[in-house]
Amino acid sequence: MTTTITILITGGAGFIGSHVVRHFVNAYPQYKIVNLDLLTYAGNLENLKDVEGAPNYTFVKGDISDVAFLDTLFETHQFDAVIHLAAESHVDRSITDPMAFIRTNIIGTVELLNAARRSWTDFEGKRFYHVSTDEVYGSLGETGYFTEETSYDPRSPYSASKASSDFLVRAYWHTYGMPVVLSNCSNNYGPYQFPEKLIPLIINNIQHDKPLPIYGDGKYTRDWLWVLDHVGAIDVIFHKGKLGETYNIGGNNEWKNIDLVHLLCDAVDARMGRPTGTARQLITFVKDRPGHDRRYAIDSGKLQRELGWEPSMGMEEGLRRTVDWYFDHADWLAHVTSGAYQGYYEHQYKG
Ligand code: NAD
Ligand code: TYD
Repeated sequence: MTTTITILITGGAGFIGSHVVRHFVNAYPQYKIVNLDLLTYAGNLENLKDVEGAPNYTFVKGDISDVAFLDTLFETHQFDAVIHLAAESHVDRSITDPMAFIRTNIIGTVELLNAARRSWTDFEGKRFYHVSTDEVYGSLGETGYFTEETSYDPRSPYSASKASSDFLVRAYWHTYGMPVVLSNCSNNYGPYQFPEKLIPLIINNIQHDKPLPIYGDGKYTRDWLWVLDHVGAIDVIFHKGKLGETYNIGGNNEWKNIDLVHLLCDAVDARMGRPTGTARQLITFVKDRPGHDRRYAIDSGKLQRELGWEPSMGMEEGLRRTVDWYFDHADWLAHVTSGAYQGYYEHQYKG
């Protein structure tokens, strides 16, 4: 696309959002990118140091549930499109503080839809892209995959809040003709992920010689996707996705948590130049997460067939790059874990 458009990206200071912002700022110099983020514990402008001076980039601090603020923002920038990633994103936190998830993920999403609807008197050429998760589909047994037709069955406050937001986005399509597109993606990993999620938490704990908490029997399964493959999918869906449609995104890369942690331990030992098996000694099985979903696995066939996307990164290479990134960015890790930070297990599920 060579036309100049102005895109509002929400949650751009977070993990996935910062990669999306960087990609759009660099790959599309003709686009104007406005990053709206509240800078919660999960948002960090250090994630975007390399683009902060770019002429097509603006950062605005604010809350997606603040109606007056949103109206002024839309009035000022006259957005052509929204890519909505802002959210409370951690399942464990949703178990102890569900209301934060209701406020941001449900109410915030509706306020954003309303602001776009008030601003967009004509929907021609406009687009509201809602970024969501595969966790809305619930939990799988040993076999099978989530497709776009799988019934929603969310089981944590986080996934229930994301499911609600997905339904509301679709309701705005059906009711008001709002030009929406959605995607539901599996677990992401890579640089800039806050170290409360499994992979960076394990790397951080190994570095500090702390126990590596494995919930329950460790046989819970996730389908892992390199974050830049998610960004590639977001790009293609944003530009070519059919309005009103949903696309599943996944890595076709299932790992039981314990096997993944073994691989990660070995990658960290290799990086530290010490004998394989050293980090594994820190593994500690702990009390399970309440309502823990057993298995997620995505069928991304629709996205592959219709829009030509496919994942590019192998797990060993992706993990090696992730480990290298965390070791090479010790300042970032020290900064985001300063203050009140603790791995979530440390103060929630003990005992
Ligand atoms: P994250 O927690 O790293 O980042 C979320 C960002 O949203 C932070 O920068 C935070 O400051 C901002 N934010 C929170 N509340 C806000 C508010 N009220 N107003 C404005 N900004 C606010 O999350 P992430 O892992 O990058 O996930 C981004 C999106 O992708 C989320 O919508 C999430 O549901 C979805 N998703 C994540 C994954 C994953 O594996 N991480 C997988 C699939 C989908
Ligand atoms: P997480 O990264 O929180 O992502 P999600 O819950 O959204 O899938 O957790 C990934 C898996 O790892 C999940 O099955 C829970 C498990 N887990 C642990 O075993 N120990 C931990 O300390 C964490 C954070 C997660």
